[in-house]
Amino acid sequence: MSTGSQDPSDRPLAGPSRPAVAALARPAALVELTSATCERLLAPATPRLARVHRQQIDRDGWPDFAAFDPHRYDPGLRRDAARHWARRAVAEHGSVHQFSALTHALCEARVGLELLGPLARLITDEVRHAELCARMALAIDPEGPGASPGAFAWPVPVAPWPDAPPAAERERLLAWSAGVILVACCLGETLSRPFYDALALVCTDPTAEAVLRQIQRDEHLHAAFGWDALALLLPALDAGGRASLQDTLRRAFGGFETTTACGLTIDQVAGTSIDLERGPPNLGTLEEHHYAVIFFATIEQEVFPALAALGLDPAAAWATRPRPA
Ligand SMILES: [Fe+2]
Ligand SMILES: [Fe+2]
Repeated sequence: MSTGSQDPSDRPLAGPSRPAVAALARPAALVELTSATCERLLAPATPRLARVHRQQIDRDGWPDFAAFDPHRYDPGLRRDAARHWARRAVAEHGSVHQFSALTHALCEARVGLELLGPLARLITDEVRHAELCARMALAIDPEGPGASPGAFAWPVPVAPWPDAPPAAERERLLAWSAGVILVACCLGETLSRPFYDALALVCTDPTAEAVLRQIQRDEHLHAAFGWDALALLLPALDAGGRASLQDTLRRAFGGFETTTACGLTIDQVAGTSIDLERGPPNLGTLEEHHYAVIFFATIEQEVFPALAALGLDPAAAWATRPRPA
């Protein structure tokens, strides 16, 4: 154990005495947390926790949000982009919620630590993404969340799957975990990656681009985690577990199409291509057509082959997916 550091953040968090714990129990900042917007994501904790937090999330050089020049952009453009960034912050926070639930389940299933270590990294990454997106939203919004709290709402995260089965049912727990990894990582993170690639290409602002590139780098690892972890868990699934996973895939295809393709069908974008390059002022947004083309192309070119390599049947799942209303 190291004893030489003078950095308070290296010391045990609870401190040596009961009075110290009591003093930390209700920091003043926590009492003030009344805002229901994503501004609250950035609420301070204590100086010591803030230092640990920064050490965890500030890996690549923190973007200079103060350098954002609001005069370069029309207020309407800033407001629209800020709402996109606020929704991203909420989605990234949802990933913290999902990956921590997965960690809990995999702990109870007693998988090896080499699976838990990368997953712990994913959780930290998603905390960083949530902060990056929330700070970006607040830096560029011309009015602040008080003017339109609905656009900056920070709702309770809800996982798009049922709760994990009990720890005593290890096979079901592993099957549940495989389904979560399939949806959140193999599909969610693999789709997220090309979106961030595209956003970084069209973005014309250096602060927004720095944020996008930090997230973009992590999403590559997150997708890779998903494919490796799913390959690791699949042999533990019985026939029922694999059938359930195939059904999860079918429903997830429909769910992602509804939320990501912006109402456009594969027939509407078939044969079209998108030419992504820097043009008019852009603070990190894509057009709906771009989302749809990237979604369908990534499903076909990346997701289908990777799923087939694992022995799943993506074509059958796609053909029977629930269709957007
Ligand atoms: Fe993320
Ligand atoms: Fe991610």
